[in-house]
Amino acid sequence: MSSEINAVPVILTGDRTTGPLHLGHFVGSLRNRVALQKSHRQYVLLADAQALTDNADDPGKVRQNVLEVALDYLAVGIDPELTTICVQSALPALAELTMLYLNFVSVARLERNPTIKDEIQMRGFGRNIPAGFLCYPAAQAADITGFQATLVPVGEDQLPIIEQTNELVRRLNRQVGRELLLEAQALVPKTGRLPGVDGKSKMSKSQGNAIPLSASPSDVQAAVQRMYTDPDHLRASDPGQVEGNIVFVYLDAFDPDEEAVAELKSQYRRGGLGDMVLKRRLAGILEETIAPIRERRAELARDPDTVMDVLRAGTAKATEITNKTKELVVEGLGLFRL
Ligand code: TRP
Repeated sequence: MSSEINAVPVILTGDRTTGPLHLGHFVGSLRNRVALQKSHRQYVLLADAQALTDNADDPGKVRQNVLEVALDYLAVGIDPELTTICVQSALPALAELTMLYLNFVSVARLERNPTIKDEIQMRGFGRNIPAGFLCYPAAQAADITGFQATLVPVGEDQLPIIEQTNELVRRLNRQVGRELLLEAQALVPKTGRLPGVDGKSKMSKSQGNAIPLSASPSDVQAAVQRMYTDPDHLRASDPGQVEGNIVFVYLDAFDPDEEAVAELKSQYRRGGLGDMVLKRRLAGILEETIAPIRERRAELARDPDTVMDVLRAGTAKATEITNKTKELVVEGLGLFRL
């Protein structure tokens, strides 16, 4: 166990900066990050370089959303005293590690990654896939190992990326001849992905079914009104279906009063509980969740200099650790040094 890498568990998470974050992010990861920052060393990466891998035609959007996502982080309670928030494109060591790592993975392996395969299909890239996009698992391996992270909280769809990271770690360690880099463990939230308000797929901005953390009270109302319930539940007195009913999925995710929700479920199944009553409760609970976030976010948005200071300080700290890792890898491989 004589690794040069420290044994303190380090967490890295990140988000592509393609748009403001939404309730799906809140349930799937932001809530966890706020809790984990108290017990772990945590880095959060504003992944603008990765965002560019499928947004090369709109770098302006990618840049602008660095600040938007940073505002979301701070508004939900990610505390820069406890969590290091940093900007990916401002960390050259990550790009250097990526270039090194790309020599230890084949194009065939990159093309076999199930997440990449799905995303290529979803985006209709075909053979016109940007090389950067195909290679992003190697870049994410650079992120994870660059921060010497051993715990990576991600959604289930990111598991193949972590697996590929660990493959690269083993390949590099074999080359170097010792345990230079540590494998990472994914932390997948038990709750699973929050469905979009249309109930069709996971919540995602590009699907137009998301409730952003910055949503206004009337946006929240309108989103709940749009929610799909049980199509056969026509009158309040009819028995209704709870399974697959989006309103109940959301109540399970957000309503702190589990007993009350269980009671509502049995009432709904029996008949006698109208969708309007249920939706009114959910709208109230979502508003309670979002209101303090919205307020803090608006306050922070009036003072972008402070947010920039947070990013500068976090990125400076991240520069140290990522440079150190890059040095270890260059040294470990025995590359030429001046
Ligand atoms: N690929 C992640 C996503 O789309 C974002 C990300 C970039 C990330 N680098 C990371 C997540 C490092 C965890 C660790 O959600």
